[in-house]
Amino acid sequence: MAGVASLQSAGTVSQDARIGQAIEDLDTPTLLLDRAASDRNLAKMAQFFADRKSKLRPHFKNHKCVTLAKRQLAAGNAVGITCAKLGEAEILADHGVTNLLIANQVVGAVKVRRLAELAKRARVAVAVDHLDQVEAISRAAVAAGSTVHLLVEVDIGMGRCGLPPGDGVVELAKQIVKFPGVQLDGIQAYEGHLVNVIDRDQRRSQSQAAMQLAIDTRRLLEKSGIPVTCLSGCSSATYDSTGAMDGVDEIQAGSYATMDRQYYRLAPEFEIAMSLLVRVISRPTADKAVLDVGVKGAGGEFGVPGIKDYPDVVVPFFLAEEHVVVNNSPNWSIGQPLHLIPSHACTTCNLHREFVVHENGRVVDVWPIEASGLLR
Ligand SMILES: Cc1ncc(COP(=O)(O)O)c(C=O)c1O
Repeated sequence: MAGVASLQSAGTVSQDARIGQAIEDLDTPTLLLDRAASDRNLAKMAQFFADRKSKLRPHFKNHKCVTLAKRQLAAGNAVGITCAKLGEAEILADHGVTNLLIANQVVGAVKVRRLAELAKRARVAVAVDHLDQVEAISRAAVAAGSTVHLLVEVDIGMGRCGLPPGDGVVELAKQIVKFPGVQLDGIQAYEGHLVNVIDRDQRRSQSQAAMQLAIDTRRLLEKSGIPVTCLSGCSSATYDSTGAMDGVDEIQAGSYATMDRQYYRLAPEFEIAMSLLVRVISRPTADKAVLDVGVKGAGGEFGVPGIKDYPDVVVPFFLAEEHVVVNNSPNWSIGQPLHLIPSHACTTCNLHREFVVHENGRVVDVWPIEASGLLR
């Protein structure tokens, strides 16, 4: 596993004027990342794959920050980065990360042309589940003179994209291998419908049963003479269950890097490294406090945020655009800084332009979130 030195070389330190400041003095709201805690998360996840055949392909959609992606690679036992969007992959390639999986379908003339161009400067794989997608990608890749790698997406119960497991996947694969400009690598299968099962044993058994459907489909492909070099799937909540199964090659875990309130219930072996520094801006009554962030700064679809060091404070489910109202406020003063723990890191990072990175209460770096807000 790579050590601290290679983690440090995974990015240069910013010259930002805030470096050295006490974090509580920062303007608010500010997205914070505890570097030591995040590094421990990265090291712990990398260590799990040290002696395994399967390897990590960390999911960029969690944080959308190139520096953090590079640190995930430097932490070791990672083959490349997973992206949700083509634009994320382009940004990573711009910064020298060139082994990329877009774990989604890439459709539409403009995007398919961009994909074929990207494949000239990066090894890029995408998910497909229909011949029409394959035909368009093949045509664009041939025109560009590139090769796009493909994974057939298999729906193992989530009910999103993907073919049902079994013969239909083999039929599509047999067609794909006839096309120029594309290379079939194997299968994409994400057990996303089971990631939030709180009971760990249940999550393990249910997600392994789901992933077995993808592994069985892999074996069908292999039996029919189609080589499979990659079955990619899994998450930060299933890395140690489905991620350890024979027949799974790549683990697309994302949230372990930052963590959030919801994920901490699922995988408490990782630390909550990300928080939102906010301030009390109003105390309209004795037990009410209003904080200076709402849904425009904190992703809320996995439930209410928490407030660090105040486990008994209840934040109501509804967050306004720019306000959180706490009805059972402790004796907080106007201007008091607090650390809000969002319920969902991925949508929170998507709302911010930078991580202000800290250690021991002081700012040590600022990392741009290059792909924030990027939908294409
Ligand atoms: C395709 C895919 N793979 C993997 C993941 C797992 O990411 P995380 O570890 O953040 O749960 C997700 C989460 O949305 C996903 O959509």
